[in-house]
Parts: sequence; C-alpha cells; structure tokens
Amino acid sequence: IPVDPFDLVIFGGTGDLAQRKILPALFRRYCAGQWNDDVRIIAAARSAHDQAGYRAIVAESLAQHAPRQAADPGNLDGFLNRLQYLRLDASSDDGWENLSGQLTDLRIRAFYFSVGPGLFAPLAEKIRQHGLANEQTRIVVEKPFGHDLDSARALNATLASYFSENQIYRIDHYLGKETVQNLMAVRFGNMLFEPLWNSQYVDHIQITVAETVGVDGREEYYERAGAMRDMVQNHLMQLLCLIAMEPPAKFDSDAVRDEKLKVIRALDPVQPHHIVRGQYSGGPDGPGYREAVGNPRSTTESYVALRAHVSNWRWAGTPFYLRTGKRLVARSSVINVIFKDAPHSIFGAEAGRHANTLSIRLQPNEGITLKVTIKEPGQGGMRLIDVPLDMSFAEALGPGNQEAPDAYERLVMDVIRGNQTLFMRGDEVEAAWAWTDPIIAGWQARGDVPKPYDSGSTGPGDAELLMKRDGRHWQGIKP
Ligand code: BG6
Repeated sequence: IPVDPFDLVIFGGTGDLAQRKILPALFRRYCAGQWNDDVRIIAAARSAHDQAGYRAIVAESLAQHAPRQAADPGNLDGFLNRLQYLRLDASSDDGWENLSGQLTDLRIRAFYFSVGPGLFAPLAEKIRQHGLANEQTRIVVEKPFGHDLDSARALNATLASYFSENQIYRIDHYLGKETVQNLMAVRFGNMLFEPLWNSQYVDHIQITVAETVGVDGREEYYERAGAMRDMVQNHLMQLLCLIAMEPPAKFDSDAVRDEKLKVIRALDPVQPHHIVRGQYSGGPDGPGYREAVGNPRSTTESYVALRAHVSNWRWAGTPFYLRTGKRLVARSSVINVIFKDAPHSIFGAEAGRHANTLSIRLQPNEGITLKVTIKEPGQGGMRLIDVPLDMSFAEALGPGNQEAPDAYERLVMDVIRGNQTLFMRGDEVEAAWAWTDPIIAGWQARGDVPKPYDSGSTGPGDAELLMKRDGRHWQGIKP
C-alpha cells in the first residue's frame, strides 16, 4: 500500500549509513511502488556538491547496494529526480533558510539524524529554531543513543524539550530485520510454542550474534564503545526482550514496548563470574584488535558472553546466555531455545538424553529448525536420534520472494506511516543502560582486561567454561 506523500530530510546525506542503507532502502521501496513522484528527499551535509555531482554519488551507491533495481534506468532516474542535495551546517545557521524553502506545508515531514551523536541535540534545536517542525514532524535518531545512562537521560531530556515522544523514532535496526519480526510471529501466531514458553519447559536460551567483520573504519567510536555498548545494550537486549516478553494485547507501539520494558526491568544484575570479555588477536585474515585501533594497551572488548536472568514468574530459573563478537569464524545470528529433557525415558538409559531445540536463524540462511527425537530406522531396537524439522524462509516463500527486504526499508517506511512499534522508546533505552552500566563500571573498577581470542575462532575459551560450569554447551556458530 503506498504511503502518503512526505518530505524526508537526511542529515548526513553523504555519510556511509545514508549511502549504504538509507538511500538504497528508500530506492527499493520506490521501485516497489510504495511511494511515488510526490515525494521529496533532501539530503543535507556540510560538503559542497552540485545536484548532478551528488546524484552521481548516489547512483553509484545504489548500483552497489540495490543492483537489481538500479539496473533499470527508468527506476534510477525516477528516484534521483526526487532527490535534492543541500549544503547545511548543524553548528551554524547557514543553509537553514534554504531548507525551509524546500519543504512542503501540511504534510508528513521526517528528519533523519544520520550523523554523529554529538549533533543530535544541535539538530533538534535548529529544526525548532527555524520553525521547520509541524504537527506531522518526526525525527529519526540513529544509534548510539547515549554512552551510558546519564548521557541517554540527558539526550532524552533535550529531545523531549523540542519534540514529543511520539515524534521521536530511535533506531535499533535489528527490530527492522524480517526474521526478528518473525520472532513475534512465531511466538504469538502459533498455539504450538507459547504453552511451553516458560521455565517449566525451557532449560535455557542462547542468543548468539557472531560477526566476521572487525572494527575497520570505526576504530575511534568502537574503542570508546566496545561490544557491550555497541551490540549488547541494544541489539542483543532487544532480541532478549522479544523472546522473553509477555504477549502484548495488541501489536501496537505502546503495548509492545511496555512488555519489552518489563523484561528489561526484570533482569537481575549480572554477576562478574557470569560474564566473559574477549578481544581478538591477529591472524591470517588481518591484524588484531589492538593493532587495528592503534592502541597496544587497549582493554576494549570485541566479544562478550554472559548469563542473564529474567526474574519474573515465567522465567525464574531459566538462564539466558548471550554472546556476540567480532572477527569470529562465521557470521551467524541465531536464537536457540533448548527445552528440558523428557521427565522420564521409557526407553531406558541407553536411549540417551534428548532435548528439543528450537533454532531461529536471524541471518544468514533465515529460517527455523526444530530438533525432534525419533526412532533410528532399522532393526536395532529402540534407538533414538535427533533430526531437524527444517524450514528456510526463502524456500517456504517460493522463488519469487527470495530477496528479503533490508531492515531499513521497513523502518523508514514505518517512520512515514507513523508506526513506532519497531523503535525504542525513551524509557526502554534508559532501562537498558541501567542494566549495562554497572557491568561496565565493574570492569573499570577491577581494571579488567579482556581475554584474547584468535581471529577466526569461536571466541575465548572462557566463554565455553561459562556454559560448561552449568553443564551446558554453546550450540555451534558455524551453520
Ligand atoms: C551495528 C554495530 O549496530 O550493528 C556494528 O554498530 C555491527 O558493530 C552491526 O557490525 C551488525 O549489524 P548487522 O545488520 O550486520 O547484523
């Protein structure tokens, strides 16, 4: 369904995120017919470009990041014609009058802050100062949303002085991923899983977000952030919320976010011996972390594994193990729900122990596998084996549907539709920081040094020990 006409201003229009994600997402939605010629996209940044020069840059990005659609010159020209470049500086008044002249009255107006966090507050102020906000204005704020609880609170307060909460769209792009939304569909669209979705039947849950990339090009930011702030505080906690939350009464923004907030607030503080930090060392595929960031004494972690507890009626006693890291052996984001063993084996001890596992693969090879126990075929008596009931989303949807939409396609269109369900609310972000801050403060107080792990491995050995101590093991990262 096409959205209403809108004006979208992208601050940071020459930046990496705009070129790699936001503009390709808008372009794909344009090609899909979701918006049409009555739309204006204004890319703003500090550098000088004429219209033709800027469009040429974007054309190149689209060819790289949306090649199938960009191969059609009609599509490409149609899109580029809707795009204007504007030179603008967030720290001065230059260019703002021009921007004002380009916006259409009385229609949806979105300002996308695809800039460093230091510019969020100044941009919000300038938008107000220059009278650019109307009733239908939304602002979209990229991560990082704060560096800790205090800075997140301060940012929330500043934004709240210019905009109301229902105008603020805080991005966590994991929520826009098709398969992350599928988590909710699987849980709340099926009768099959929900009755078992609690500590009575679930032994534990593993959430893994493994990456092969390092920190290339983002050294300065990453060195200050580390995996805890960069991945755990937002993406992994969001996944944890979606897995652990109570069914919201409706799929609407406050109902869903209220439930997620309750999960975060029910999290116990993490015990120091329930968390492992790692840092990759060099290997054949590149330098180690310290070399990459040019700090031989860096104690920033590029890997975290931890055990969390959601202390509420549903989950008391079921640990949630979270891990994420860079330069690991494979790119793989997966959630494993490991059910308890059957209470009694009628087949005797030799049948072995068997537990059902539900694996939700977020990326790559998106899909769901349920491991079930069956009789080993043949005459050898009642021997049991585990087999996968496997569903790949791409296969299930058929050959025409193999290109999963990028997270940003969904999110940008949701901004225009005015739907905040897949965006973080201010109180949610603050609660997430309130949980991560003491963990980071503990490391700092103890002078904790992350454990080295080989680039291209599955992470530090201590992460295995964390599980082993509990009589459990991580399910493999490699698909
Ligand atoms: C970003 C982090 O938010 O997410 C990056 O800052 C990380 O460090 C990225 O690489 C992972 O996103 P995706 O979509 O590639 O899983």
